[in-house]
This record gives sequence, C-alpha cells and structure tokens, in this order.
Amino acid sequence: MRVLGLETSCDETAAAVVEDGRRALSDVVSTQVDIHRRWGGVVPELASRNHVVQVLPVVDAALQQAGVSLSQLDLIAVTAGPGLLGALLVGLQTARALGAATGVPVLGVNHLEGHLLAIRLIEEAPEPPFLGLVVSGGHTSLYLVEAFGRYRRLGSTRDDAAGEAYDKVGRLLGLPYPAGAPIDALAQGGNPRAIRFPRAMNAPDVVDWSFSGLKTAVRSHVQRYGVPEGQALADLCASFQEAVADTLSQKAVAAARRLGVPQLVLCGGVAANSRLRALTVERAQERDIHVFLPPPRLCTDNGAMVAVAGYEAYRRGVQPGADLAVDAAWRP
Ligand code: KG4
Ligand code: ZN
Repeated sequence: MRVLGLETSCDETAAAVVEDGRRALSDVVSTQVDIHRRWGGVVPELASRNHVVQVLPVVDAALQQAGVSLSQLDLIAVTAGPGLLGALLVGLQTARALGAATGVPVLGVNHLEGHLLAIRLIEEAPEPPFLGLVVSGGHTSLYLVEAFGRYRRLGSTRDDAAGEAYDKVGRLLGLPYPAGAPIDALAQGGNPRAIRFPRAMNAPDVVDWSFSGLKTAVRSHVQRYGVPEGQALADLCASFQEAVADTLSQKAVAAARRLGVPQLVLCGGVAANSRLRALTVERAQERDIHVFLPPPRLCTDNGAMVAVAGYEAYRRGVQPGADLAVDAAWRP
C-alpha cells in the first residue's frame, strides 16, 4: 500500500511516499525557516502564504522521487491538526483537491500521532506498547502508545514546550531562530555544571514539566552578567541544555519503569538534541529500558510520519473522507 503523506501544520511544507507504513520511497521537506528567522519566530500569515507557493512543487518532487504517479497512490494522508489554522488549511485543501481529481481516498491525520509513529520508519522499529516522548517547538508530552490508534497522554508541560524554551533562550543570547541546533552545538564545548539552573521538579512520579522558570533564570543571568561570549556562552548553553535534558529524561524513564513498558521513543524536533539522547539512553540502560532514537530528519516535521499515521489509521478502519476538517487544537 502506497501512501502520500502531506504536512503543512507549521513552517515546513513536506510530502513523502511511504510503502506499507514502513518504507519511505521519498521524503521531501521545504523549510521556511529563512523566511521566519528575521521575525524571531513563525509568522502564521507568512507560513500560510509560503505553503501555497510550495505545496504542489513539493508533492510533485515526492511523487517523482518515489517513481509513483498520483493515480498509483492508495491513500493520501494529510495533517489535519494541531497546528496553525491557515497553514493546515493549505495542506488539507490540497489533499482534498488531489483526492477529488484522482479518486484516491484522503484521510486527516493528527500531527502528534505522526511524530509518535515516525519511529516506524527505522529498521528495528518498536511495536506497541511503547512510551513516546513528544518534544517539539509546540509540544512537550509523554504518551503511552497502547496500540496503533490508542494513545494515553500521561502528562505534559505546564507552560513552555521544550523547543520553545530553546528558541526563547536563543533569542536572549542573540542566536538565530530556531535556536535548538545552535545551542546544542555551542553546548558541546561547555561545562554543564558551570551554572546551576533550576529544575522544576515535582515528585519524580508526576509526569509534568515546566520550562518558564528556567527561561527566567537564564534571563536573570544575562541581565546580571550581560550576554556571554566565548567560553562563557558555551558554559551557559551546556548548563541550560543539561537542565532541560535532565528533567525530560528523568521523568520519561521513571514512567517507563513505573508502567512496566520497557520501550521508550523520543520524537519531535528536540529529540534531535544530543544531550537529551545521551542522557535518556544512559538512564534507561540502568533500568533495562530500550530507547528508540529516530534520525534527526525524522525528528523534525516531515511528510513520511504523516503517511505512516495515515496508513495505520486506514488499517484499523478509520474511514477516509469522514470528518475531513482542520482542527487546529486537536489532541490524539
Ligand atoms: O518538531 P519540530 O520540527 O516542529 C514542531 O512541531 O514544533 O520542532 C522544532 C523545534 C524547535 O524549537 C527547534 O529549536 C528544536 O525543535 N530543535 C532542537 C534541536 N533541533 C531542533 N532543540 C534542541 N536541540 C536540537 N538539536
Ligand atoms: Zn512537529
């Protein structure tokens, strides 16, 4: 079964063809970061407009790379939410039009389900049940994937998402948007114990996070000592990164142990973070929990993850076409 996955929920226009929910035949991502960078964040109206420009060329490229024509598709899966309303509408209307023109069924997919199931595209992919830590610019939540289509949200951030914290701290430090990768790179040369930033930790058994206090602590530090340079900048990045990776990995691993689910998947843009990956693996190993790490390309927004989620929904009997509407605040 060949599924076209289409993703336009934020600032990536992405399309991919995936075979049988496991093998990406193509994976095309056109990012708008250069457009949004000068504004220091995603501007919704600019995002919608650029999706309109990019969406058909990106779909064409995905089909061409896969060597598949539109009519050879068995399903079109499109992100229906959550995300930016105008941006989502571009993808949904495009998918609808392609479906109407070709007779290929169209299915709306949840973006977070896409992130959770992206791991299906690696060779040694986990079968449910597994825990999935979704850490991105918009979300920080831990899910129990009981089965495909059965997701239990165990907890979330109370304020900022982890990626949002990276991007806000990056702004304080004068780094380009999105700041996750630049902070990660700077942190490599820094001392993670240079500055003891606060960890907002309830009981380790409570699955929740908070990153706004950490962001405020970084702001106070910068106000007091000025924007650091050189080694001091590296030390600050490493110390901030350590605080984020510490709370995320600790609570996710503790939940896996408590629930007796020995498989933990990291996903979303922040799952590309080197320290989060290393620390999670380290802590999980001590407790016989296997951590699955998608390659960075599958962490950030892409069309292949949407195709996988669409394939699994179709297989479990979700009807294409039924309630095909955008839901900007949709939770799985
Ligand atoms: O999943 P994603 O591409 O888009 C959303 O759905 O939000 O995630 C983007 C986020 C941004 O906040 C970016 O700064 C962060 O992922 N990010 C990282 C790294 N690479 C991207 N954060 C920490 N370390 C990284 N290496
Ligand atoms: Zn995302």
